Amino acid sequence: MNITLRVWRQQNADTPGAMQTYQVADVSPDMSFLEMLDVLNEQLTLAGDDPIAFDSDCREGICGMCGLVINGLAHGPNELVTTCQLHMRSFSDGDVIDVEPWRAQPFSVIKDLVVDRSSFDRIIQAGGFISAPTGTAPDAHAAPVPKADADAAFDAATCIGCGACVAACPNGSASLFVAAKITHLGLLPQGQPERDSRALDMLAQHDEEGFGGCTQIGECTAACPKGIQIDLISRMQRDVLGALSHRR
Ligand code: SF4
Ligand code: FES
Repeated sequence: MNITLRVWRQQNADTPGAMQTYQVADVSPDMSFLEMLDVLNEQLTLAGDDPIAFDSDCREGICGMCGLVINGLAHGPNELVTTCQLHMRSFSDGDVIDVEPWRAQPFSVIKDLVVDRSSFDRIIQAGGFISAPTGTAPDAHAAPVPKADADAAFDAATCIGCGACVAACPNGSASLFVAAKITHLGLLPQGQPERDSRALDMLAQHDEEGFGGCTQIGECTAACPKGIQIDLISRMQRDVLGALSHRR
């Protein structure tokens, strides 16, 4: 396959960026999207040009590092996949593909396609933890958790913090991410001591970072590679209301 890429190039957050066009020849349909970018970067490096900066780590859909807007869609055209799980067989010979970074005010561009997602770390630090000692594995197994709650907590825990929900949201909201983290811990007995403060503190940090509010548009859940469901946002809002009523 021969592919034309239009890639966002930007030196840093303070300099203006622009799309630049590149040709990539002999692309195997079995290559992942990131492997195709690796090939392009090798070409650029051998030609003495600056390679395109993009994030990746596990390349198995589990770490949340990768994240590109491909033809206007966070993580590209396929459902329930991260960018590293997207393969070139999803495109056709001769395609022109636009590649851009996550665009949201709290995600400033570090370089090219790499954005600063440390705001997510600060949201987690604000309350996405438990302080109860959980002991070793047998101790954890001794704490009774209803199967439905364990399953729902596990589903919420599959959020990898990639930020696609923010990139897809017209409001630039990180509500799906925050809701997943609040739900995961809020459904488990070990998460109860900080349940109220967790909801209030994480949401307050979310707002302080400059993320927008949720208006239930649903683009977040459509873009989420882990299938985190939008009803978790309603659950988060109920937790926040509950926490506020307990404070009276
Ligand atoms: S909710 Fe989904 S899209 Fe958002 S950060 Fe978690 S895994 Fe990524
Ligand atoms: S590189 Fe880890 S999820 Fe894509």
